[in-house]
Amino acid sequence: MVPEHIGFIMDGNGRWAKARLLPRTAGHLAGLKALKRVILACIDEGVRYVTLYCFSTENWKRPADEVNYLMGLFSEKIMGEKPFYDANGVRLLTLGDVGVLPADARDSLLEAVEATKGNDRILVQLAINYGGQDEICTAVNRALAEGIGTITPEVIRAHFDNPFIPPVDLIVRSAGEKRLSNFLLFDSAYAELVFCDRLWPDWGKDEVRSAIAEYESRDRRFGGLKK
Ligand code: IPE
Ligand code: IPE
Ligand code: MG
Repeated sequence: MVPEHIGFIMDGNGRWAKARLLPRTAGHLAGLKALKRVILACIDEGVRYVTLYCFSTENWKRPADEVNYLMGLFSEKIMGEKPFYDANGVRLLTLGDVGVLPADARDSLLEAVEATKGNDRILVQLAINYGGQDEICTAVNRALAEGIGTITPEVIRAHFDNPFIPPVDLIVRSAGEKRLSNFLLFDSAYAELVFCDRLWPDWGKDEVRSAIAEYESRDRRFGGLKK
């Protein structure tokens, strides 16, 4: 069965640029183009939810010019793709604390969420200033603030940013690194993991197809026995 929800750790933009003797920022721009190919491929395959790891809570450690460039992409490129979202039924949501981003990046993201809320073919969650540890702590603090005294997995999940989105079925990471880097720590409990050496800016339909094919070959047991 096709996964209902795929999370992508879009890694390797810097290495892609370095291999071409280009600045790292050129890799991020190329990564943005790959992202559109990947969304189209997910739509073709019948995937309903996609979460894209765009900027982690740890990515602030990078040099200021790279961070500024990425913030600039969020403020300048996201709304420019409105015709793409509407033509393909893409609804956008954010995941993570976007409230602390530079105002133009934050406003443009919120505008894109509002502008695409009527689209219903695929829901794309943009994880920006997102960290899995922060997500869990934030959810627990929200529950405590409501006076909930007993924290359970259900309580935590119900206090996530977009709790109606089902847990991720498949997490895919490009560029060869085999770790989660703080991505979807709670919902990855029983997700399948697929790692691919190809650098993110080189991703397209074929890579999405092969990740889904690998997922379909797995036997998900959730701690039970094989059906
Ligand atoms: C992923 O590519 C994009 C972000 C983290 C924003 P990287 O920038 O991490 O690329 P590499 O891993 O250095 O090649
Ligand atoms: C994970 O990639 C974050 C994003 C893809 C946004 P990193 O490149 O930041 O992860 P590490 O540092 O290799 O673990
Ligand atoms: Mg990286």
